[in-house]
Amino acid sequence: MSQMIVVGLQWGDEGKGKIVDLLSPAFDVVARFQGGHNAGHTVRFGERHLTLHLLPSGIVRPQVSCVLGNGMVIAPDALREEIEGLERQGIEVGERLFVSARAHVILPTHVLLDRAREEARGEARIGTTLRGIGPAYEMKAGRCGVRIADLDSDDLIELLRAQHQRIAPELANLGAEPPPKPSALLAACRQQAEWLAPWTCDVAVLLDRWQGEGKRILFEGAQGALLDLDFGTYPYVTSSATTAGGVAVGAGVPPRRIDGVLGVVKAYATRVGGGPFPTELDDGDDGIGEHLRRRGNERGTTTGRPRRCGWFDAVAARYARLLSGVDLLALTKLDVLDELDEIRVCVAYRAGGREIQELPAAAAELARLEPVYETLPGWRQDTRGALQLADLPAAARSYVVFLEQAVGAPVALISSGPRREETILLDHPELKRLLGDRYAAVRAHRDGP
Ligand code: GDP
Ligand code: IMO
Ligand code: MG
Repeated sequence: MSQMIVVGLQWGDEGKGKIVDLLSPAFDVVARFQGGHNAGHTVRFGERHLTLHLLPSGIVRPQVSCVLGNGMVIAPDALREEIEGLERQGIEVGERLFVSARAHVILPTHVLLDRAREEARGEARIGTTLRGIGPAYEMKAGRCGVRIADLDSDDLIELLRAQHQRIAPELANLGAEPPPKPSALLAACRQQAEWLAPWTCDVAVLLDRWQGEGKRILFEGAQGALLDLDFGTYPYVTSSATTAGGVAVGAGVPPRRIDGVLGVVKAYATRVGGGPFPTELDDGDDGIGEHLRRRGNERGTTTGRPRRCGWFDAVAARYARLLSGVDLLALTKLDVLDELDEIRVCVAYRAGGREIQELPAAAAELARLEPVYETLPGWRQDTRGALQLADLPAAARSYVVFLEQAVGAPVALISSGPRREETILLDHPELKRLLGDRYAAVRAHRDGP
């Protein structure tokens, strides 16, 4: 009996997809609980390279059932495109998908609004993925959202009209193109309802039943703690609850049922989009920032935008660790640091001659802070594809230990390359407890057929 959560502890793109795929043989179900197709989760093994946006990364494994929770915002056409794309690659979704009737629908009007607002913000733009995520959550909180269950209801036209009344004047004010008329959206919504019907269900009831049957469930977070609507670098955040707490409200799971939380951290930091990033390396074409971007292939999985790169921020990661009650860490992209002479870690911030250990709530204040760094020696040795701790040079092992202490949680997995096979699976008792008798299956999965 095990229900476990995987969440990102930075600004997203930590490698959650890779870790979820690796762990998936230990679980019968993988569920998403927040976000939408703003997420881009990469799964690689052998020659295969898959990108998931709405579907949980567990979809790659035919034995796994996949759930889209009520806390998500879903664009039905994006879901269809993703499913068809996977099926073309030989991955059948079929009867393994379960979609919450309570999840909210992203309408074309939300995309228009996301775009128009970002344009209007100019330099202060959030740098959203322009997928309509924020406006869809806003309609949800404003109690005029359209849910999956509404797509075939008699009230749908009224709901669409109510949204139109809210959104059209703002679009006009922003000088954007007028939104489609509610009557023009109706037919598409009806088709989507019909197409989604076989998968639509009450996810909370389903998960409760599965839990009772002893099924093991993995919750796959999207984005990361520093993009959380409450705890992230507001307003430069996404519009959902990205910490472990999001599972309770986003999938209807009582918090007490959760057995463990694994936090994914990259060995350095990246951020895509605007907002404060104290450890950012803005050091030009020959700088370390550009080196990390190139070596780490740091381009948005969803938008293709270059990611901003910087040193590991242990102050922020510690905050993320406490927010989600992280039991274990998965450390990814260690190999990207292989060529550096020295590696820095931010261990505090300096503000007006004073050192602080906490993340200020105001984004403007965070942007003004100076990071206080600890400098560690690099290893200048190829670690790509390392399979055991002993394969890592001493300086790389010291870096891992330093991060464990700085963040305050033990590392149980070290990713040494993008592929599933390129992972160090540590013999950690807590990891063994969480994976139970399927620990060996995870190891075999890593080692491949
Ligand atoms: P997610 O959104 O958290 O699932 O992460 P993304 O898939 O958006 O970004 C992570 C990127 O890093 C992907 O391109 C992965 O293939 C790649 N990646 C994951 N782990 C490693 C690693 O340990 N080393 C290297 N070099 N690349 C990795
Ligand atoms: P995964 O799951 C990285 C960022 C956007 C923007 C902000 C708000 O792949 O880690 P939104 O479209 O959500 O309103 O944009 O959040 N963002 C992500 N950054 N990884 C993600 O997902 C992200 N999803 C959203 O770049 O800064
Ligand atoms: Mg991503």
